[in-house]
Amino acid sequence: MANVVVVGAQWGDEGKGKIVDWLSERADVVARFQGGHNAGHTLVIGGVTYKLNALPSGVVRGGKLSVIGNGVVLDPWHLLKEIEAIRAQGVEISPETLMVAENTPLILPFHGELDRAREAQTAVAKIGTTGRGIGPCYEDKVGRRVIRVADLADDATLELRVDRALVHHNALRAGLGLSEIDRDALLADLRAIAPELLRYAAPVWKVMTEARRAGKRILFEGAQGALLDIDFGTYPFVTSSNTIAGQAATGTGLGPGAIDFVLGIVKAYTTRVGEGPFPTELGDSDGERLGERGREFGTVTGRKRRCGWFDAVLVRQTCATSGVSGIALTKLDVLDGFETLRLCVGYDLDGQRLDYLPTAADQQARCVPIYEDLPGWSDSTEGARSWADLPANAIKYVRRVEELIQCPVALLSTSPERDDTILVTDPFAD
Ligand code: IMP
Repeated sequence: MANVVVVGAQWGDEGKGKIVDWLSERADVVARFQGGHNAGHTLVIGGVTYKLNALPSGVVRGGKLSVIGNGVVLDPWHLLKEIEAIRAQGVEISPETLMVAENTPLILPFHGELDRAREAQTAVAKIGTTGRGIGPCYEDKVGRRVIRVADLADDATLELRVDRALVHHNALRAGLGLSEIDRDALLADLRAIAPELLRYAAPVWKVMTEARRAGKRILFEGAQGALLDIDFGTYPFVTSSNTIAGQAATGTGLGPGAIDFVLGIVKAYTTRVGEGPFPTELGDSDGERLGERGREFGTVTGRKRRCGWFDAVLVRQTCATSGVSGIALTKLDVLDGFETLRLCVGYDLDGQRLDYLPTAADQQARCVPIYEDLPGWSDSTEGARSWADLPANAIKYVRRVEELIQCPVALLSTSPERDDTILVTDPFAD
């Protein structure tokens, strides 16, 4: 059976929700493998809207196993609230349908406070984080002082873990002018949620291995996008996890051979939330128009997304770092009505032409996009369900994108409706 990884191939918000839902209908297991509740996935099924942050998209469809892997950082209070909210919409969630890896790090309230306190400091450049404690929690994981799901099961271990974390955090907080953490209150809060959270705890690596051996179809659901990857993104303006496809294996406990198809989700233009370089960003009426037509507002923070032309250099790069087998091109309809469309095909760096984004921040800032112009189309592509429904210039645009990024289109999405999709290659096909 084919297992599919879905990753964002730009800066997130590529429209993964619809594609993941479309694929999850045919998956047996849907697993999150990185990130946390900084993600915002909106699903519309049968006219009902579900808003998910930490839960895998598979939870809203019956008969599947949803998995939160060890690569995720988990705010337990947020998770339990999210479960309640989804349950209130009539969805059944139980330990049989949702499993959380025992080795998943927990986001605690002081992680969020630290995240927000750092962002509020004006002396250093802001990252523009979601303020949800994602970075500080990953720091603690790597610093070997994080509290993990399994630690909740034994009170003596929990106290040791809390003390280890507080030694570090109280020193840090003193420097930032934040009050000391109330140890007893934190322990009491953790003890209070432990029984409910532990109901979902499982050795996910084992469950996933058994599912794979039993020939189940696994869908690995990525969050954020490849340009926000901690190693390959526009550092330091990135999130704190590996968002690229290789993380699907590490973040759930399977070997890399478990991945058969990597689907990169790519928006027909480019957007970014938060700070950081963005070579094709538009500060003009074309940018405004992309934002309005594409309804480009962040689902988690409500921030206006920055908009720009399609950057083929960046997407070629992320298709390489994630080993993308095929892309799902989304929001093509947002480009309807533009007289001319621009595709970034290279950068000019101090008079030299580059075919990739350099790593050094000062060089990134000096990269001037080199554009190729294509004629737009006046007919609507919204709701197209076959190539024959698309204007000739829209097809030319898509074909040119494929050539430039050196990766084929597997799916084309032409509206938020799940059936407004053109299927070229089935990622789940054996
Ligand atoms: P953090 O993940 O909250 O640490 O934020 C780091 C960067 O990633 C910021 O630029 C955020 O705007 C961005 N980011 C985090 N999650 C998402 C997402 O789900 N979509 C798009 N951008 C995100």
